[in-house]
Amino acid sequence: MSQHAVETFGIDDFPAVGKTPAFSVAPETPADIPAREALLDRAMGPKRRRKSSEKLRRGRLPAEGLAFVARAADGSLIGTVRLWNVRLGHGGSPALLLGPLSVEPSLKSMGVGKALMQHAIAEAGRLGHGAILLVGDAPYYARFGFSAEKTDRLAMPGPYEKERFLALELVDGALNGAQGVLEPAGRKISLAA
Ligand SMILES: CC(C)(COP(=O)(O)OP(=O)(O)OC[C@H]1O[C@@H](n2cnc3c(N)ncnc32)[C@H](O)[C@@H]1OP(=O)(O)O)[C@@H](O)C(=O)NCCC(=O)NCCS
Repeated sequence: MSQHAVETFGIDDFPAVGKTPAFSVAPETPADIPAREALLDRAMGPKRRRKSSEKLRRGRLPAEGLAFVARAADGSLIGTVRLWNVRLGHGGSPALLLGPLSVEPSLKSMGVGKALMQHAIAEAGRLGHGAILLVGDAPYYARFGFSAEKTDRLAMPGPYEKERFLALELVDGALNGAQGVLEPAGRKISLAA
């Protein structure tokens, strides 16, 4: 699927839910930014800006082609996920950091998070990335193949809970031998207007 493609979901994709509204997952555009930021504030609160992951994101652009939104049928933004370029240790191999993932609080458990995750993982793989890391709830992310198995010798650049530091290899062995503190590696946001 091209990075510009829109993937549409509806009741047939999530029959167990019964009343899942139709929604789509699409690349984020600059016009989505105010609604994305408002959603993140509502869903995660102001503490979100103090997370260790933020040190790897601040002042950077998301990885090329890897920022997505979920939209309801009326076009409103109901979910967001982005991936970021990082290095595994100083001068280490490239990888992606996923987050934040967030879904409109009133529309939780309707498959929107799942659709965003599956789309993001598929696109990252299609673009040739080797591995995705994140800090999050293992019981949720395990369903997409994430585990703490391969992050043992890696660390975030700040406080985090070790059992929440998870990874998924998109290429077998991509995390073999990886060690050290994650470093930001994304394109810097240009301040020149
Ligand atoms: C976590 C989140 C992204 C999930 O999105 P969603 O659209 O509600 O979830 P989905 O519809 O894809 O999946 C729902 C399933 O995940 C489970 N689930 C949701 N959050 C979970 C969590 N934190 N831990 C374990 N399971 C979780 C639900 O119980 C449900 O389980 P079921 O399929 O067995 O019924 C969303 O709830 C959210 O935005 N939360 C606030 C922000 C946040 O916590 N972000 C992630 C940081 S870890």
